[in-house]
Amino acid sequence: MIRGKVNLNIPTNLVFKTEGITKSVQRGDVIIVIDVLRCSSTIVTALANAAEGVIPTKTVKEARALRKKHSEFLLAGERRGVKLKGFDLGNSPLEFSPQKVKGRHIVLTTTSGSKAIISSKKAKHVFAGAFLNVEAIAKATSKIAEREETGISLVSAGTDGQFSLEDFICAGAIAESFPATVFIHSDAVLAAILAFKQAKQSLKKVIQSGYHAQYLISQGFEEDIKFCSQLSIYKVVPFLKGGTIVSLEKSLSFC
Ligand code: MLT
Repeated sequence: MIRGKVNLNIPTNLVFKTEGITKSVQRGDVIIVIDVLRCSSTIVTALANAAEGVIPTKTVKEARALRKKHSEFLLAGERRGVKLKGFDLGNSPLEFSPQKVKGRHIVLTTTSGSKAIISSKKAKHVFAGAFLNVEAIAKATSKIAEREETGISLVSAGTDGQFSLEDFICAGAIAESFPATVFIHSDAVLAAILAFKQAKQSLKKVIQSGYHAQYLISQGFEEDIKFCSQLSIYKVVPFLKGGTIVSLEKSLSFC
């Protein structure tokens, strides 16, 4: 329909629910967790600003325990979008400046994004994707899927288990950037590509109209929406390695 060359046939899937993640992991897919607002965007920014690694946790308790064990780690995250008591950073990518994060390990717990990453952790290849690193993530993941002859699952972290407009459109942006060797035969992925093509010219405006964006604006985070709507400003490819998300370039197994 829109694009594609069938000979390599790397199947792509769009996943919304935890059960979907389990199936993707069982199939051995390369997984891209997308949480544009804001977990993935924050992870991409932290690594682009030279953080050593980001350690996602499901619960606030786990995050605090990790920090207790490693006092040198920064503690970051949110619940209901807001920084937690006693934490160094919230979940606004704008807080993750080089001055604050360079050379540091950051423990990150967020409502949906960090949980989706943890739910995917049994997969061999788990990445974090956002508008900020669309081109880099599409290139790196398609290369690995081609090499390992696996599919690619685009996992939309959503908002509290609900469909999220910005994650869907970002999945489309990533799929649109896959090389022509990736055959898109999922209607959901094709729909996401169409949504991205439609939204592309006024991405910030479209994202801003979404439910979670509106909530974040009500909490004073309008600048985050603007920042997270930028396309491919970073080349960083966040990759989960032994429980810590690091830049793919730093991960020896793929150099
Ligand atoms: C999440 O993981 O649910 C989000 O990143 C929440 C947020 O906007 O901070």
